[in-house]
Amino acid sequence: MTMASAPGKIILFGEHAVVSGTAALGGAIDLRARAIVQSLPGRILIETDDLSLRGFSLDLSTGEIRSASAAYATRYVSAVLKELGARDVRVMIESDIPPAAGLGSSASIVVATVAALNGHLGLELSQKEIAALSYRIEKEVQKGRGSPMDTALATYGGYQRIADDNQRLDLPPLEMVVGYTRLPHDTFSLVEKVQLLKERYPDLVGPIFQAIGAISERAAPLIREQRLKDLGELMDINHGLLEALGVGSRELSELVYAARNTGGALGAKLTGAGGGGCMIALPGMAGKDALLVALRQARGMAFAAMMGCEGVRLE
Ligand code: PMV
Repeated sequence: MTMASAPGKIILFGEHAVVSGTAALGGAIDLRARAIVQSLPGRILIETDDLSLRGFSLDLSTGEIRSASAAYATRYVSAVLKELGARDVRVMIESDIPPAAGLGSSASIVVATVAALNGHLGLELSQKEIAALSYRIEKEVQKGRGSPMDTALATYGGYQRIADDNQRLDLPPLEMVVGYTRLPHDTFSLVEKVQLLKERYPDLVGPIFQAIGAISERAAPLIREQRLKDLGELMDINHGLLEALGVGSRELSELVYAARNTGGALGAKLTGAGGGGCMIALPGMAGKDALLVALRQARGMAFAAMMGCEGVRLE
């Protein structure tokens, strides 16, 4: 048996604008997906024990499905198995990361599966090869959209600056509180919506993207020097710019305002593609507990997440 795990991620700054090439900043978090690979002669079996997909199982060799759930995780795992030409295996997926919430769940499943199969089949892929292969597979399943941020963070951990290329940033851990609207989002259509807005209003959306990129570039020194009040201010500005791009929602705004007004956050913004999914808040003087209470009172699912955690590893 070979087990590998990979972390989820939070985009701190730069979502959507990064699709057009400006900088974004993200960090790996201490929620992980695990892939467990075992030999299973004559068959290829995928089982997921994901938050929303508990008990799902797909037997690729017979096509037998043992649950009616539309299991997105199996699409990614099947793509990895196909890419690596893996047969005679059982792959089990467990995940702490809610799917379609902007926390990098699919990338961590892909990276953990690639790493576990790498160990099981003795492929000797380097970390760089795992990141590149995982990015290609995720992009293929997501039909060509997407930046390499999620797979890079799931592989390398820590923090990544993403622009034309990825750059690992050496920054201290940072505690965030995540508020989940409980509404899944569709990154593909939200990215398309923003890119169409840019085509219609290049003179308006272009400068918004530039401003978002500038925020991302300002963030790293603030984290390094622990200037958290300033960092929170940038989160608030970034959230406003994302609202201007049309990817906010009432549910996200309710959590953002609850965090700022009741939870004492130093700053709050949506994270990821928007629409539904998650927001993040930087704890203030009252600490993370006040934020957790405020977000739960506003009907969000809330949890603390440490940014800057370890990347993929064999367990
Ligand atoms: O899929 P999410 O919610 O993590 O959002 C991805 C971030 C975007 O910038 C909107 C798209 C991308 O691929 O960079």
